[in-house]
Amino acid sequence: MNTATRVLVLLVVLWVLVPTMSGQGGSRSELGRILETIPPDGPPWSYGNVVLRPARGGRMDPAVFPHWLHRSRYTCRVCHLELGFSIRRGETGISRSGNLAGRHCGACHNGKVAFSVSSQPKRQCQRCHTRDLKPLKRRFEQFAAGMPESRFGNGIDWAAALREGLRDLQDSLGTEQQTRMRLPPNLARDLELGTRAPRSGVRFSHREHFAEMDCSNCHPDIFQIQRSGTELFSMERNIFGWYCGSCHMRVAFPMSHCNGCHPGMRDRLPGRR
Ligand code: HEC
Ligand code: HEC
Ligand code: HEC
Ligand code: HEC
Ligand code: HEC
Ligand code: HEC
Repeated sequence: MNTATRVLVLLVVLWVLVPTMSGQGGSRSELGRILETIPPDGPPWSYGNVVLRPARGGRMDPAVFPHWLHRSRYTCRVCHLELGFSIRRGETGISRSGNLAGRHCGACHNGKVAFSVSSQPKRQCQRCHTRDLKPLKRRFEQFAAGMPESRFGNGIDWAAALREGLRDLQDSLGTEQQTRMRLPPNLARDLELGTRAPRSGVRFSHREHFAEMDCSNCHPDIFQIQRSGTELFSMERNIFGWYCGSCHMRVAFPMSHCNGCHPGMRDRLPGRR
């Protein structure tokens, strides 16, 4: 399917979906806003790449941060808990001086764990500050070749890769693995979320999410720590990038993979491959 057809299918699906979900007519401007928040149809290697630009036009090319490469080695917890990176784009305040002092990117890009943010050799700057993403794309293709496939997001089934032991993830930067709390036994069973709408049942596994994330990545900022305690939790808001969509529009498989969360639904939007 070519891009134009995909966009058309997407439009039609949203045209039907949005009004039924919100209980009110979907206006053209509302639809436009939603379309802007649906990034998943780009090429797999660019899904989850965050382009970091200085607040006021800097001297360097913007820095690129590829999630796929980093999550192939580290759990989300390392960065979004230990190193204090925000899970909302642009909120961390990453700076040159912070990097040089060993914070943020500089916590690893120090010449020991990974190539350094400091001055030598000069061309290393361009591994982050660059507009030429072809080398990164090649690196992705080599990596993805060995991973279980998915038609969405990065084109990689990350959860399956973890289950199958294909990702050996470091969970802490400390010299000794920090003692991690165990998943409380009452959370070992999947939660049944969803509404009374047909086939809207949702499987949510604390176990699978906890494997890479900390409780505080979701509670209390995204979800109340109480069954059905989350107000205004709806599919429409998911699509706008709230709740599940905080991750499942940006880094984890995108919202277009309906069947990934709703076992009773078929994927409606065109996936890849
Ligand atoms: C590991 C990735 C990485 C490397 C390597 C790196 N930087 Fe950066 N740099 C960043 C990020 C992220 C920011 C913050 C986002 C921003 O302000 O653009 C930043 C910000 C900057 C800024 C402030 C913003 C601007 O454009 O003026 C300068 C200057 C800078 N870096 C220079 C360098 C130089 C010089 C090198 C090589 C000696 C280098 N950086 C290497 C990631 C990196
Ligand atoms: C090596 C560090 C690192 C790892 C590992 C990592 N992230 Fe991130 N993440 C970042 C950085 C850096 C940003 C950008 C923060 C900023 O702009 O202030 C970010 C941003 C995000 C965003 C917002 C993206 C956007 O486009 O708005 C989400 C969602 C996110 N991360 C989720 C995850 C999840 C889920 C995982 C684990 C599967 C993960 N991250 C693993 C460093 C990391
Ligand atoms: C938890 C450790 C860690 C943190 C934090 C981290 N990185 Fe990395 N990064 C790595 C490792 C390890 C590699 C692989 C290095 C290699 O292959 O030489 C890497 C590779 C990269 C690459 C690929 C470069 C290439 O030439 O293929 C880019 C780009 C990059 N990091 C950008 C960033 C930026 C920007 C930040 C901060 C926003 C950041 N990283 C924070 C560990 C980290
Ligand atoms: C990926 C996001 C995510 C992570 C990580 C996460 N939770 Fe949750 N949690 C949820 C969601 C979603 C709900 C359901 C909220 C609702 O129904 O409003 C929930 C519900 C709960 C509930 C209520 C369960 C019930 O049956 O009543 C408890 C208790 C809870 N979480 C504790 C934790 C703890 C402890 C951790 C860390 C070990 C954790 N959560 C990690 C998303 C998460
Ligand atoms: C903080 C980030 C985050 C939030 C919030 C989040 N997830 Fe996830 N979820 C992930 C990551 C990372 C994975 C691993 C798979 C991937 O990256 O595609 C995942 C995987 C899944 C899987 C697949 C598990 C498997 O075994 O295949 C399901 C189903 C899922 N999430 C449902 C949900 C639902 C439903 C919500 C909202 C109630 C939610 N998630 C909220 C990050 C998140
Ligand atoms: C990342 C997980 C996730 C994905 C992917 C997902 N949903 Fe949902 N969906 C949910 C959750 C969680 C709820 C329940 C919200 C609540 O409890 O109110 C929901 C609820 C719904 C509902 C019930 C009405 C409503 O607004 O709550 C419909 C209809 C629905 N989803 C359709 C879809 C369709 C169509 C797709 C694919 C385009 C999709 N969903 C993809 C998590 C997901």
